[in-house]
Amino acid sequence: MKRAIIVGATSGIGRAVTTALLRQGWQVGIAGRREHLLNELEAEFGAENVVSEVMDVTQSDATLALDRLIARLGEVDLLLFATGVGHQNRDLVEEIELATIRTNCEGMVRVVDHFVNHVKQNPAYNAQHKAHIAVITSVAGTMGIGTAPAYSATKKMQSTYLTALAQLVRMEQLPITLSDIRPGFVRTEILNPDKEYPMVISCEQAAQYIIKGLAHRRRVITFDWRYRCIVFFWRMIPRWLWERMTFVRN
Ligand SMILES: NC(=O)c1ccc[n+]([C@@H]2O[C@H](COP(=O)([O-])OP(=O)(O)OC[C@H]3O[C@@H](n4cnc5c(N)ncnc54)[C@H](OP(=O)(O)O)[C@@H]3O)[C@@H](O)[C@H]2O)c1
Repeated sequence: MKRAIIVGATSGIGRAVTTALLRQGWQVGIAGRREHLLNELEAEFGAENVVSEVMDVTQSDATLALDRLIARLGEVDLLLFATGVGHQNRDLVEEIELATIRTNCEGMVRVVDHFVNHVKQNPAYNAQHKAHIAVITSVAGTMGIGTAPAYSATKKMQSTYLTALAQLVRMEQLPITLSDIRPGFVRTEILNPDKEYPMVISCEQAAQYIIKGLAHRRRVITFDWRYRCIVFFWRMIPRWLWERMTFVRN
């Protein structure tokens, strides 16, 4: 039986991946702030398959909750950081920008670094049995998006951090595989229900792309193919032109 910890499992993509892994027979440790949603998953799949901890990644005691999950599960094969907040914020409400940075940047670093250090100290991990760490970033990290400055910048930060970690893991010869998961639009609570978004997929579809990509231990998982094409061309737009493309609203 394989074991995963999913931080941000209470809704959206994290919840869909949790459900899919449980159906495949994984044992899963789940975390998030909304306790009733954690309990709901535990009740649905049984305490022998799901263990949960309330965790707010912006708080320093998040690492204690992570330690408790690790202690209850034993050797964890996969840590998925599916936590994230994102808002369009054209009025630059400072608290929204700062809260986004605290969750997406500070929260990710707190959880991922703690897990890396756990793997480093645990002899059960080795070249034959590597730990897999994956973070859901976004295609939004490709460029700074005017309507969502903090969101797009935090997503870029997450991807750059993973690149740095991937180099560090090789430097230190740590038994860790890293994956950067970059979805396009997925129908979840993060999207504004009153807005139209192009090329939206369901959480269940997103979960399938993620699980397939993780099974192949892919370093970067961008989906679906339409977003892979968009990102390819998006990257070629020179900065001076991008900054003048004021019709970009999503
Ligand atoms: N949906 C999209 O179109 C899309 C596209 C690209 C990337 N993504 C990324 O996918 C990830 C998942 O988002 P989603 O779309 O599935 O949205 P979601 O349904 O809102 O899920 C966000 C998850 O993050 C958790 N979370 C938020 N703040 C937290 C905190 N302080 N501590 C612990 N957990 C926290 C939430 O749980 P609690 O509220 O219970 O804490 C929830 O489980 C995010 O990183 C997002 O940026 C989404």
